[in-house]
Parts: sequence; structure tokens; C-alpha cells
Amino acid sequence: MLHFKTLLIAAAALATTVRALPQITRKGRYLYNPDGSRFYIKGVAYQPQGQAANDPNNPFLEPSTFIDPLADSAGCTRDIPNLQQLGVNVIRVYSVDNTLNHDSCMSTLDQAGIYTMIDLSLPVNGSIDRSAPSWTTNLLDLYVKTIDVFSNYQNVLGYHIGNEVVITADGTGAAAFVKAAARDVKAYLKSKSSSALVGYAAVDASSDWLDPFANYLTCDPNGNGSGDTSIDLFGLNNYEWCGDASPSVYATKNGDFAGYSVAAYFSEYGCITSPPRLWTEVAALFSSPMTQIWSGGIAFSYFPAESGQGEFGMVTIDGSTVTKSADFNRLKTQYGQVTPPNSPSRDSASDSSYPSCPSQNSTLLASSTLPPTPNDAACNCLETKLSCIFSPPPGTNSTAISVINGQLLGTACGLLSTNGGNCNDIISNGTTGTYGRVSFCDAREKLSYVMSLYYETQNRNPAACNFGGNAKLNSGALTMSAASAAESCIANPSATFVPGSSSTISKSVKPTGTGGNSGGSVSLMDSIQSLGLVMGISTVGALWTLLT
Ligand SMILES: *[C@@H]1O[C@H](CO)[C@@H](O)[C@H](O)[C@H]1NC(C)=O
Ligand SMILES: *[C@@H]1O[C@H](CO)[C@@H](O)[C@H](O)[C@H]1NC(C)=O
Ligand SMILES: *[C@@H]1O[C@H](CO)[C@@H](O)[C@H](O)[C@H]1NC(C)=O
Ligand SMILES: *[C@@H]1O[C@H](CO)[C@@H](O)[C@H](O)[C@H]1NC(C)=O
Ligand SMILES: *[C@@H]1O[C@H](CO)[C@@H](O)[C@H](O)[C@H]1NC(C)=O
Repeated sequence: MLHFKTLLIAAAALATTVRALPQITRKGRYLYNPDGSRFYIKGVAYQPQGQAANDPNNPFLEPSTFIDPLADSAGCTRDIPNLQQLGVNVIRVYSVDNTLNHDSCMSTLDQAGIYTMIDLSLPVNGSIDRSAPSWTTNLLDLYVKTIDVFSNYQNVLGYHIGNEVVITADGTGAAAFVKAAARDVKAYLKSKSSSALVGYAAVDASSDWLDPFANYLTCDPNGNGSGDTSIDLFGLNNYEWCGDASPSVYATKNGDFAGYSVAAYFSEYGCITSPPRLWTEVAALFSSPMTQIWSGGIAFSYFPAESGQGEFGMVTIDGSTVTKSADFNRLKTQYGQVTPPNSPSRDSASDSSYPSCPSQNSTLLASSTLPPTPNDAACNCLETKLSCIFSPPPGTNSTAISVINGQLLGTACGLLSTNGGNCNDIISNGTTGTYGRVSFCDAREKLSYVMSLYYETQNRNPAACNFGGNAKLNSGALTMSAASAAESCIANPSATFVPGSSSTISKSVKPTGTGGNSGGSVSLMDSIQSLGLVMGISTVGALWTLLT
């Protein structure tokens, strides 16, 4: 009996000590294992290809749908042995559904020694819209909920707060919103005692704007050297090495990032334009001098991912059968040969410095005045006090709601401006550093606000709160003006705070008929300018932005 009992205890001990990967941390510009040795990302992208919306308003062919690979336990069971064969220690996952269960995949990955880099954004309305950027309650809530779900797992290396949000010099104003997202996500992780890294994945581009942009993401807007608004990990989606190139292809990028403040890596790599891919860049990336600058990279892509340039996938999948290509085997060989240097040691690595923000010029339009933290409680308060509320007819599906929302915003702002008003309160501008009082609320609340302003200009004539049957009077509201409601509910419009702190967030149920959040799937500025664009441009799936 005693013997049996001992066995049971031993078995129980074993069950609770199944492998749990240790948290990787950053010191200065390098990543470290707990024992102080350098950690390099030997990764592969792991996301089935979404459906690209065939839409003239989606010139980058960004996906409109996604499949969460970390919620597919059969798929993980099928693929993880292959990921182990490939020799990867990190997978990058571009879109996850925070309502699904990820226990099985995450624990199998953990046991296989594989970390995850999770992108928090989602296709269509789940990311900072580069054509009309804002940092809003619906996005912050999405990010927070995803972090809550993944904080249950030890093998989350970090989170990307955006992917290719900024893609041109004249789009760099959007960097202010990316930086605000970094600030709020970082504060939230800290409040949960999580040391998961806050990353951003950038399109590769001219150093003219990429360098100031990268520096801006690590700068301290207050000029006192704080890293509170800095990312931890700059990802570069880099496809410079094509065919059997030579390390000199990286000379410019190495120079650009030689003095960078925080860790950097290739958040995608694997050029397809000179097939077959030999993956000889792996040897360069994992040896000096690149290892002094970069912490590895993510090869694109495990799953089939076809573009006009060719096939990036390394396997084909038919049900439970996976066929590996020669491409897979070549990458496996290359990953198997790397022995990156274990220096500098953690003790001798310098801490980061967070310089003052670069001054604004034509290649960096972002202001060092950042948008505030989106405040759910304030927006919910506002919605209860507005007199005219966006309320599409029952049964309208969510896609249609987003479209109507965007179209009506243009209509309502137009009507308002011909009646002596304006939409300034809902507009944010990362270049001027001005953020309208209501600009951090979600798209539906913004529309209700503008509808209410218009209704007031019409002396509260009920006919002015109809908008084709998409608006209704809020019987619960007092006769307070929308502007006063905004001033009372959003008393401190530039406040920053730790998301989720109880004093600021109290999620209330939205009034019946409005059906909850609708995001910024509609480009605000485009709507206002009545350009007729109704699909926002999402920023998920770097491949699609890169290769067109
Ligand atoms: C930096 O300055 C800002 C505003 O001046 C202040 O709120 C913040 O606490 C300071 N941070 C540090 C680390 O000194
Ligand atoms: C803008 O400022 C950056 C420094 O942040 C500098 O590298 C760049 O050359 C400047 N661009 C122009 C056009 O002056
Ligand atoms: C949503 O409603 C619109 C307009 O009625 C319709 O065209 C569209 O097919 C619907 N979409 C879905 C997914 O049901
Ligand atoms: C922001 O303001 C600048 C300067 O007034 C203007 O040129 C730019 O178009 C504005 N951006 C947006 C997105 O409105
Ligand atoms: C995106 O839009 C859909 C449909 O309106 C909505 O259900 C969802 O909550 C939105 N997501 C975000 C992050 O705004």
C-alpha cells in the first residue's frame, strides 16, 4: 500500500511539473532566458490564410476573415510535431478569437518548448485604421480581453499592438495612436504583473521615415527618460534577402538599427521572388554582426499563403495529412545549424535609454502629444445622456450596421456643418496632437453624439432624429445638450490611466436596440468627406500590404 501511495504522489508531482516555459525578459536591447543567456526568436508564422475581401476599397487585399489556429486543438496536435521538427521556439499568430478556448493548443505548444507572439489586432474593424486612425474604447477592450485570455498561459512571449499601421511617410501621424496603444497595453500588463513584451510589426520601408518612426515608438514624450510609452520589441517585416543573397543586403537596416533603444527582430522574413528559397539568410541573421542588432525572426509561413509573388507556405494540408515541401526541409536544415552567440550577458547588457521624441518634420508627422486612454465609463455615461441615439432597425446584421454607421456619420456631419455646427469633438489628429473630447468613443457613440448635436440645431424637432429610421429619441435622457453631456461625462478628456482600473471602467449594458459596440470599420474621415468609402482598411496580414 505504501509503495502504491508513493507512486501516486510521484505521479501527482510529475503532473504538476509538466513543462512550463519560463518568461523571457528584455534587458536593454536584448532578450534573455531566466539563466541570463540570450534568447533568440527562431520562429515561423502560424496562421491559415484568411479570405481577402475582393473589394475596390481594399487595395491591399487584407483579409476580411480569420481562423484562430490556437483554438483548433486537432490542428495543433497535427502541426506541433512539425513545428518541433522545424526547430522553432516561437510562432507568430496574427488573429485570435478571445471568445474561444485556447488551453489545448497553448499547453501542447508549451510542452513542445514553443512560445507565441500574439497579434492583438483583428481584420477589418479590429485594428488602428491607417486611413483614419484613432485609439478607441472598442479596440482597447478587444486588446484587454485578448490579454486576459492569454495571460493564463506562460508561453506568451509578447503581443503585437499593430501590424503595418503606418506604411508611408505621410501616414506617420498614425504613430501617435500606435504609441498610445503601446502605453495603455504596457500599463495593463504591468497591472497584471505580466512581463510579456509589447511589440509592433512594421512594414519595411525607406529609412527616411522608418528610422524616425522606430525611434518615436521608443521615445519619451515628456523628455524625462521614462519607458512608459515605449514598445519593448520592434518587429520589421523584412524580405530583402532573395535567393542566395549575401549579408550585405542587410547593411542599411543593420546601420539603421545599430543604436536602437529596445529589442528588434524580423517579424516576418522569407523572400519568394527568386525561388527556390534557400533560407541562407538564417545563417546571417543568427550570427554576428546581426546578432548584436537583432534577436532573430519569424519565417513566413507554415500554412499555405499565396500572393501574386508566389507561394509562401511550407506545407500543404489535407484534413489531418500534412505534406512538407522542400522549402520546409531547407528551413529546417538552416535552423538546425544556427549557434548564435550568447553575448552580451544579461549582467553586461546596458539598460535602455528612452530619448526625447524626435521633432516633427515631413518624414515624421506624429505629435509627441499622445491620444488619451480610451475611457469606457465616460463613453457609456455619454450614451445615456444623448438625446438622439443611433438605432438601426431590429434585425439589421452587424456588417450592415457598420456600413450604415459610416454613411450616416458623413450625412450627419454634413447636416451639422450646414447648420452652424461641426464634428470636431469626434475627430482625432495625431499630427496636430488634437483629440476631440469624444474621439476615443466607439463609432456608434460618435454617431449618436453627432446626431444629437444636429437634433439640437433643429430645436429638438423629432423629425430631425430619424435618419432614415436609424435613429430614435432617448426617452431616458434629460434635456441636457450633447456638448454639456460630453463635458460632464468626459470631464478630463486628455487623461491617461491604467486600463481596467476600477475607478474608470464600469462596463454598462448599452441601451436596447443599439446592440453593443460597433467598431471603426468605417473610415471616419472618409465618411465625413463623403468619399463613399465604407470599408476601413485593416492592418492584419502584413504579407498583403507588402506584396501588392
Ligand atoms: C515624466 O514626466 C511626466 C510629466 O511631466 C510625469 O507625469 C511622469 O511621472 C514622469 N516620469 C518619470 C519616470 O519621471
Ligand atoms: C526628420 O527628422 C529626422 C530625425 O527624427 C531626420 O532623421 C530626418 O532626416 C528629418 N527629415 C527631414 C526631411 O528633414
Ligand atoms: C447583411 O445585410 C445586408 C443588407 O440587408 C445584406 O446585403 C448582407 O448580405 C447581409 N450580410 C450577412 C452576412 O448576412
Ligand atoms: C491633421 O491635421 C493636419 C494639419 O492641420 C492636416 O493636414 C491633416 O490632414 C489632418 N489629418 C487628418 C487625418 O485629419
Ligand atoms: C467590429 O464590428 C462588429 C460588427 O459590427 C462588432 O460586432 C465588433 O464588436 C467590432 N469589433 C471591434 C473591435 O470594434
